[in-house]
Amino acid sequence: ANPDTLDIFKALDAAATFFQRQLATSERARAYLDQRGVGEAVRAQFAIGYAPDGFSALKDALGTDARRMNLLERAGLFSKNDRGHVYDKFRDRVMFPIHDRRGRVIAFGGRVLAAPADGRDAGPKYLNSPETALFHKGRELYGLWQVRQANPRIERLVVVEGYMDVVALFEHGVTVAVATLGTATTPDHAELLFRNAPDVYFCFDGDRAGRNAAWKAVESVLPRMRDGRQGFFLFLPEGEDPDSIVRKEGAEGFEARLREATPLSRFFFDTLSDGIALSTLDGKARLAERAKPLLAQIPDGAFGDLMQQRLTELTGVGARQAAPEPSAPIRRQ
Ligand code: GTP
Ligand code: MN
Ligand code: MN
Ligand code: MN
Ligand code: MN
Repeated sequence: ANPDTLDIFKALDAAATFFQRQLATSERARAYLDQRGVGEAVRAQFAIGYAPDGFSALKDALGTDARRMNLLERAGLFSKNDRGHVYDKFRDRVMFPIHDRRGRVIAFGGRVLAAPADGRDAGPKYLNSPETALFHKGRELYGLWQVRQANPRIERLVVVEGYMDVVALFEHGVTVAVATLGTATTPDHAELLFRNAPDVYFCFDGDRAGRNAAWKAVESVLPRMRDGRQGFFLFLPEGEDPDSIVRKEGAEGFEARLREATPLSRFFFDTLSDGIALSTLDGKARLAERAKPLLAQIPDGAFGDLMQQRLTELTGVGARQAAPEPSAPIRRQ
């Protein structure tokens, strides 16, 4: 990496350390994490911090000269108003550093502490770093570094929606959770997931948005379903997320739900047959028409063959043989 890139990494690391020190001195921020059940060990493991209120806490502490200001800006830590004035992007937020696969901080997610008493708009609940030279949110998974640290061998990964879901699962000893950063599961995510574990569980809300997000994940993983890899889908009851479930039901309850997760193959055909009358020839043809372009994306191997076979069972439509070349021109007459 060029020296400039290394300096941006250093600026991000210095910022993470600054936020951690601020958490140590903020009664209010620590009370918030206490109340959410995030203990000291997990706070340290995830390097959770606190960005103080005000517009220049970080800037005043670390932006001590023009070069440092420039590096912090390129690290995505400042915002700029229309008059060009630069100020802290993250204010009065719990800070979740996002680590790359080597454990270096590349970005942050920040959660508002609480609605301020004076009625001022605190902005969105979560704020992420902008895309920078080091951070592309469609390629990163929050928590993957910690999962790798906690497990000598990763048998499975559980993909959840949020920072707090990952952290709460770790708090309960389920150290296999990662989160996409407020985006749908991308093909890059799918690749990264299966490069790290043979079994991947996608955990979503049970609502419409959750079902749609799950289908996006299906589209991203199909081209990566080499033999030996397994995908599962887990839908939580309306209004729950992994954080709330693990608090209510413990690790055992969450693990029980994982054991009952729907295999990719079943979710695939259930979703595609939704609203189709499979007792009719017309319905079967529609299912075949929907499934074929998707099945074509599965890499060669047993999984793809078995999925094709399942489609044949459901519709009677097999993989059609190419028409044989006629040995002699067929003459009509
Ligand atoms: P808690 O209220 O802290 O439990 O958050 P949550 O993780 O349950 O949040 P939610 O289910 O609403 O959202 C899941 C994830 O979507 C979050 O962890 C964020 O990554 C992202 N997200 C949620 N709200 C926002 C938002 O206002 N802006 C952005 N950029 N991302 C958000
Ligand atoms: Mn890049
Ligand atoms: Mn939802
Ligand atoms: Mn949630
Ligand atoms: Mn939540």
